[in-house]
Amino acid sequence: MIIGVLRESRPGEARVAATPATVVELVKLGYQVVVEPGAGVAASFSDDAYAKAGAVIGDALAADIVFAIDAPPVEQLDGLPGGATLISMLNPRLNPSLVEDLSRRPITALSMDAVPRISRAQSLDVLSSMANIAGYRAVVEAAHVFGRFFTGQVTAAGKVPPAKVLVAGAGVAGLAAIGTAGSLGAIVRATDPRPEVADQVRSLGGEYLAIETADVEVSATGYAKEMSDDYSRRAAQLYAEQAKDVDIIITTALIPGKPAPRLITAEMVASMKPGSVIVDMAAANGGNVEGAVAGEAVVTDNGVTIIGYTDLAGRLPAQASQLYGTNLVNLMKLMTPDRDGRLVLDFEDVVQRSMTVVRDGELTWPPPPVSVSAAPAPSTAPSTTAPAEPQEKRPVSARRRLALAGVGAAALFLLTALSPAALRGHLTVFALAIVIGYYVIGHVHHALHTPLMSVTNAISGIIVVGALLQLGHGDNVVTALSFVAILMAGINVFGGFAVTRRMLAMFSRS
Ligand code: NAI
Repeated sequence: MIIGVLRESRPGEARVAATPATVVELVKLGYQVVVEPGAGVAASFSDDAYAKAGAVIGDALAADIVFAIDAPPVEQLDGLPGGATLISMLNPRLNPSLVEDLSRRPITALSMDAVPRISRAQSLDVLSSMANIAGYRAVVEAAHVFGRFFTGQVTAAGKVPPAKVLVAGAGVAGLAAIGTAGSLGAIVRATDPRPEVADQVRSLGGEYLAIETADVEVSATGYAKEMSDDYSRRAAQLYAEQAKDVDIIITTALIPGKPAPRLITAEMVASMKPGSVIVDMAAANGGNVEGAVAGEAVVTDNGVTIIGYTDLAGRLPAQASQLYGTNLVNLMKLMTPDRDGRLVLDFEDVVQRSMTVVRDGELTWPPPPVSVSAAPAPSTAPSTTAPAEPQEKRPVSARRRLALAGVGAAALFLLTALSPAALRGHLTVFALAIVIGYYVIGHVHHALHTPLMSVTNAISGIIVVGALLQLGHGDNVVTALSFVAILMAGINVFGGFAVTRRMLAMFSRS
């Protein structure tokens, strides 16, 4: 089958749905790729680069499968041949007229922004890919307007305090913004109604600001739900306090299918220091910030810049095209089970079902709901400050413990009484080793288990030396036991090295 890559028609859209690198992958899957002339120029990919990667430059609209970023305009849709498959971001939830128009055509339409948020579908999730880039770019835009350093410095000309950044909403975009602002040296704080994100915020160097309320909506879907009045009142208090203190606010709060929740009011903006910057990432959806204008940067009377750009991901077009293109390659891998360049739409697969808006001219939107559990739903709502504790193990009763200790002691006593004198010393050392080992190793933090395993290689070395000394003594039983000991210790030594090497490789920059 032929895949066509359209040149985007929306003014200002610099992204493209395939890059030379992703064309190579599509060709490996057995497809022919046709790229519309100049499709990648705005993202710095020349026609020559596509041709070198194995694509043909030509009429992409006539292909069997058509790739695009945004939904093509009507004139392009009219050019699609019957039986074609259109794959792009269709935003079907907010675009019922487009869905209706598509359903009148003899085509199949898949919406890349309708991929369910489940772990298996992460590699095709364009909303996450784009939000990640947008979160990064939001910080870059803020830094561009902010008239100071993000990082603190002590210079000959005086001390510079670090900038303070507040991120509201710690989803994909929020976490990317936290990481980026932190890496520029700012003090970063973040808040989110989903308590399970607290650890993620901290792991990126941010401070999690919990909003204490009893009736928090806990996520069982990966997305937040609408907040209670009590939550909103307490959140407003927190934002009012933070607005006076911080230099930059980045808002990313989103509740799917609803207008963006209003977090920052005009009074809060008025209380910020002159020169402060707000980036409202939800401006396209109504805005989290009062006064934000979608697609524009406005400066308030007190000198605060509110940025409401709606094309943050598109402002890094080469990066965004590469990630979007890779998401499409991953989708094609899923839909090309035989790697033979033939697209197979499997409606039994929840991912493919969820993103199919129209199948062969038949309307299939909305899809059945998918349980997208990002965190197990607890049976009772826990407090906002602490994530749900894992279920505690039932403690062994004291009587049972005493009985077990008694049986153990009796067995050891019998073993010692019946053993030859030479063995008694060894048995005592063995018993002590078990007790000390149990308490020492049992108290090592989980994160240190791999290094601990490497250290146990030293013990395996002692076993190998001991076993080697026993070899060749003539007793077949001893020789066999020594052989088994060397084998087991060998597996431990080499396995330990292999695991440690793999773990270190995960942290090394290629
Ligand atoms: P996400 O669903 O991963 O994250 C949204 C976060 O907001 C969630 O963690 C949720 O718990 C939190 N939230 C919900 N209600 C809240 C409230 N009342 N207060 C504080 N936090 C609240 O979404 P993602 O992918 O990170 O996108 C974030 C926003 O960025 C969306 O509005 C999206 O449309 C927008 N976006 C904007 C772009 C641009 O160019 N401006 C580009 C990409 C995304």
